[in-house]
Amino acid sequence: MFHTIAKDPDFNSEINESDFWTDEYISEMILKQQLDPSYEGGSRLHSEIIDSVDFITSNIKISGFETLLDLGCGPGLYSSLFCKHVNNVIGIDISKPSLNYALTKAKNERLNIEYILGNINEMNAFPKADIVLLVYSIFGCLSCEKRKELIIKINKCLPINGYFIFDVFSENSFNNQLERRYWSIEEKGFWSPLSYLLLKQTIINSLQKEVLNRYIVIEESLKFKTFLFKEKYFNLLEVNNLLNAFGFTIDLSLGSLTGIPLSKTTKDIAIIARKSSNIS
Ligand SMILES: C[S@@+](CC[C@H](N)C(=O)[O-])C[C@H]1O[C@@H](n2cnc3c(N)ncnc32)[C@H](O)[C@@H]1O
Repeated sequence: MFHTIAKDPDFNSEINESDFWTDEYISEMILKQQLDPSYEGGSRLHSEIIDSVDFITSNIKISGFETLLDLGCGPGLYSSLFCKHVNNVIGIDISKPSLNYALTKAKNERLNIEYILGNINEMNAFPKADIVLLVYSIFGCLSCEKRKELIIKINKCLPINGYFIFDVFSENSFNNQLERRYWSIEEKGFWSPLSYLLLKQTIINSLQKEVLNRYIVIEESLKFKTFLFKEKYFNLLEVNNLLNAFGFTIDLSLGSLTGIPLSKTTKDIAIIARKSSNIS
C-alpha cells in the first residue's frame, strides 16, 4: 500500500473514471448532491439549471427539431425541463442510482423521456438527435483520445445544423490550481460509509493546462481504493479549433449556459455549436 501511495500517478496513463461514477456507495452520494438544489457538486445549482434551459430554449431554433440527447444526464435535471420544449428527449448515464431516479420521475410525472443506462465512451454510436447536450464539464474530464472519439460520435448522430451544447472549465480557473497533498479523517462521508483516511494529491501539467487529482480512501481495515480524475482547462481558441476540426462551428460562446458573457474572470466556457459538415 505504501509503495502504491508513494508513487506519483502517471499523467499520461489512460484514466478510467467509470469506477467512480459506478461505485455502489459513491454513486448514491453523488445522486444526493445532484438532488440538493443549493449544492454545486454532482450538478449545478438548480436555479442555474432552470436559467440555462430558459436561455438555451430562447436562443436556439427549437422548432423543427425533434430530439434532444442528454449525454451524462445524471438524474435528468436538464432532460426533465427540456422535454417541455422538444418532442423527444433521450438521456444516457452510467450511474444506476441517478438513472433510476430519472426513470421514476419521468414515469410519475408522465414525461416523454427515454433513459438509457450506458457508458458514452463505450457505445459505438448514439441515437439520432437534433440537439446534443453534454453539461457540467464532462467533455474536459475525458482524455484527448476519448474526447475526439466522443465528438466524432456526436457529429455522426446530428444532422447538418444540429446543435452541440456543452461547457468546459476555462483557463481562468486553471490559474487558481495548486499542486498539493492533503489528508483528512472522516467518520462517514462522501467516499465511504465507514471511517476512513482520505489522501488527496493534485498534480498539474501547465503546458497542457491539465490537473490530475488522486484520491486514496483508506478504511480502518486498511482496505483502500484509488480514484483518479483528470481535468483539462480550455481557452476559446482551443475549443474553436477542436470543434472546427470535427465539423462544428460555434454559434455562441458564453461564460455559462445561463447566458452570462465570457470574460477574463468566468470559470467556465459554455458553447452552443452547430454541425457544419459530416466527417468520415
Ligand atoms: C458532473 S455530473 C453532471 C450530470 C448532469 N449532466 C447535470 O449537469 O446535472 C456527470 C454525469 O456524467 C455521468 N457520466 C460520467 N461518465 C460517464 C460515462 N462514461 N458514460 C455515461 N455517463 C457518464 C455521471 O454518472 C454523472 O451523472
